[in-house]
Amino acid sequence: MNQDQLKQAVGQAAVDYIKPHLQKDSIIGVGTGSTANCFIDALAELKNDFDGAVASSEATAERLKSHGIPVYDLNSSGTLDFYIDGADETNDHLQLIKGGGGALTREKIVAACAKEFICIADESKWVDLLGTFPLPVEVIPMARSYVARELVALGGDPVYRQGFVTDNGNVILDVHNMSIQSATALEERINNIVGVVTNGLFACRPADVLLMGTADGVKTIK
Ligand code: A5P
Repeated sequence: MNQDQLKQAVGQAAVDYIKPHLQKDSIIGVGTGSTANCFIDALAELKNDFDGAVASSEATAERLKSHGIPVYDLNSSGTLDFYIDGADETNDHLQLIKGGGGALTREKIVAACAKEFICIADESKWVDLLGTFPLPVEVIPMARSYVARELVALGGDPVYRQGFVTDNGNVILDVHNMSIQSATALEERINNIVGVVTNGLFACRPADVLLMGTADGVKTIK
């Protein structure tokens, strides 16, 4: 199977995973990216079996609506049973780097509201040590240079994602060459820099389940 087929396989696996638990009033959280898109496309077959979804980006909201799946505001949705999303990297603790698509802040918010976070990824995302993928940091625009200097002081090489504005109106610094020995400590440390909205480490709240697409099929890792 090629990478696209692995993404479709894990998208379908996530639908199969949540299907027995869906109720008519269920609202689920949905992530962003090419793997999450495969999940959304597979989810369409169940659209009459649950109430709707909360989207982690405008792009995801549009895709859900295109399938006739209602999209709700998180503030009127309460606790979600599931959050399903891809990742840029995962380690064996199911700590993640996310935000390659720039949706990290809304992804982290929706994940925080979910009872169970199901990560879907092909095996290329599996790493022994997080940090080969540049760590995205969402920043209030006027703080960009200050935050970049603080990230350099932490040992990273921040690169401004030119021409990109998040759904929240902010900018992204992609931090290269960051040594991530303790993902939880670094997540908290970066989030403490004034001007940072959040960073793409999902370590303090890792995924609960990883559905990983491999040449031998989809593996469930908890
Ligand atoms: C979006 O901001 C990201 O967090 C994505 O979930 C992540 O980049 C994975 O994307 P793909 O599924 O497209 O690889």
